[in-house]
Amino acid sequence: MALIDNVNWRGLDRLVIHQQRNRAAHAPVISLFRWWARRPHCFAGALLEAAQREFRKEKDFLVADPFSGGGTVAFEAARRGLRVYAQDLYPWPSKGLATALTPADPDEFRLATSQLLEILQPYRKRYSTEDGDTTWETTHIIRVRRSACPKCSERLFLFREPLVSIASRRAEESFGFFGCSACGAVSRRKKDIRSFRCDACKSRSQTAVLPGPSAKPEMVCPHCHDAVRLSDLLSSAPQWQPVLLREHIVQQNGPTARLRVVRQEDRLDDTPGIKDHRLRTEIPDGLETASLRRYGFSSWEDLYTQTQIDIIKAALDAVPAIKVSRAVADHIRLAILGSTEMAGYVCRWERYHPKALEAIANHRFSSSTVTVETNLLSPSGRGTLPRRFEAAEKALRWMRAQGYPNRTSHAEASSRRRPVSGALVVTGSSERQLLPSGAAQLVFTDPPYHDDLQYGELARLFHFWMKTMNSIEEPIEEQEAVPNAVRGATTKHYEDKVAACLTESHRVLASNGRLVLTFHNRDMNAWEALANALERAGFDVVGLAAVAAENPADHSKRGKESLLSDLVIECLPRRKKHRRPNILTVQGVAAGSEKKNLQAIGLALAECVNRREGSIDALFEKHAKRLKCRRILIRRGGR
Ligand SMILES: C[S@@+](CC[C@H](N)C(=O)[O-])C[C@H]1O[C@@H](n2cnc3c(N)ncnc32)[C@H](O)[C@@H]1O
Ligand SMILES: [Zn+2]
Ligand SMILES: [Zn+2]
Repeated sequence: MALIDNVNWRGLDRLVIHQQRNRAAHAPVISLFRWWARRPHCFAGALLEAAQREFRKEKDFLVADPFSGGGTVAFEAARRGLRVYAQDLYPWPSKGLATALTPADPDEFRLATSQLLEILQPYRKRYSTEDGDTTWETTHIIRVRRSACPKCSERLFLFREPLVSIASRRAEESFGFFGCSACGAVSRRKKDIRSFRCDACKSRSQTAVLPGPSAKPEMVCPHCHDAVRLSDLLSSAPQWQPVLLREHIVQQNGPTARLRVVRQEDRLDDTPGIKDHRLRTEIPDGLETASLRRYGFSSWEDLYTQTQIDIIKAALDAVPAIKVSRAVADHIRLAILGSTEMAGYVCRWERYHPKALEAIANHRFSSSTVTVETNLLSPSGRGTLPRRFEAAEKALRWMRAQGYPNRTSHAEASSRRRPVSGALVVTGSSERQLLPSGAAQLVFTDPPYHDDLQYGELARLFHFWMKTMNSIEEPIEEQEAVPNAVRGATTKHYEDKVAACLTESHRVLASNGRLVLTFHNRDMNAWEALANALERAGFDVVGLAAVAAENPADHSKRGKESLLSDLVIECLPRRKKHRRPNILTVQGVAAGSEKKNLQAIGLALAECVNRREGSIDALFEKHAKRLKCRRILIRRGGR
């Protein structure tokens, strides 16, 4: 019987959609370290339980995830007391996962982090201002990029959308702040005005955003009225002007926060003159990092204000001074490293729901000409250290209640093979895994989704900081199973890497073991590569299912119309003698184009893998027709 026949599919979609809406509430561990496109925890749990039932006679059931990323499978396995092996190419998610799976006392953590915040108080003071008897603390500084018009040489300010922010988060808020591209000043006006006259220079600006792609590559100079190419304005090293700040009264919570226009007496200068430029680590070229370079950033340090860099470094340096267990110290470092995603010259301000968005929100480096520096020591605001510590403490309490593996260790993929007693987390390409042959009953994983996500490039920011601590070697991005034109990696490279990792998974699987993969993609090239990889690695497909993976309401992936469900593919290691299976079980398929497309591609993939013949395009077409798919969502080169 296929494992997927043991899963109760009814209601699972609804549960996934519900839980994905507020992931951290259902699996607090996900706030311990950022990773992109984490899979739903409840689906992983349901499948693991089906496997537990199937292998109930095995006293030492072991599950392995060779592409472990955010660790969904590992966390859910650990909660169920299962032995688990997890491996990822990258140090950020694998070391994060190893830390998360190692017992750490939440009370000790709480005490240690309050000591640390105490040590960092002098840095926090840099953000405070006295106003009569009141002490205000700046939580965010919003800046606009400044440049010179290549035609008339006048200074201009890159408010590409004049509305910088609505004035507050109140539902009935009717005011907003509008930026003047001629002088850089910000004026407070009714939020729905069509044009405004600048408070400072009196020039008039339209507030409407021109139709067309938001990344419109030009703007009109407010002085000479010529169109200027954005690339000409961005090519030099960035210069910034603080325009708005958010502040709150210290020692008071509640509605005391406000957004206000920057005044002359605010000391918010962060010009390169006062920046420490001795340490500069170049941002390497890449598909994703190209946008940072296009915006004139050349080193990782350029992405931060000096105060942010000072805080991050001081925090990391202070950890050894606090007397704590190693596990707690690791958690503190993980939270500090996590805060580096609040890079002040990259983070964007969400103007309609005023808040800072992380540098790598939505699976790519944000690039904006209006950016926000987060005061990393403020107790209020997204992604600050106190907020991260709070979330981590919650995750620690949750883990303690769920139960830790009896032993967790971390190793590099180059080290010796070994048996696993609790959890073993490995860093390095899964082309080599550390499990002895035949050790796992279940390999449960999801390989990279072809070129949807450049994990290594997105993680470069974290890896840069980890390297400053000498805690990792340079990751070998060439080993990532992903096409990447800058590295010259094609779909063939992707297929070869997935095939090599799955071949190794075949080795570690017991003879009665199962491989369960989840996958989605709109590009037929991706499915073809996956089919080839499964075939080359020696697997037969025995079951298919389609399950919801994302909440439609909050799903945005690089503007693509991506699939909201995953195809689940169950495979058996192919045996020399046994007949190729032609009976497939298909589960969880409902009406609706998306699921039908997944079923059709799943059947096509299974036929290609099991019979080693046929074109996946023709087979897909055949099944799509038979299933009456109204919309075809999978195409060559489709996105
Ligand atoms: C789709 S993600 C897995 C996500 C994970 N299941 C979760 O829920 O967070 C694929 C992962 O494969 C990793 N990866 C890519 N190439 C690899 C390789 N050669 N060896 C091991 N891991 C690799 C990526 O770093 C990424 O984390
Ligand atoms: Zn003005
Ligand atoms: Zn001009």
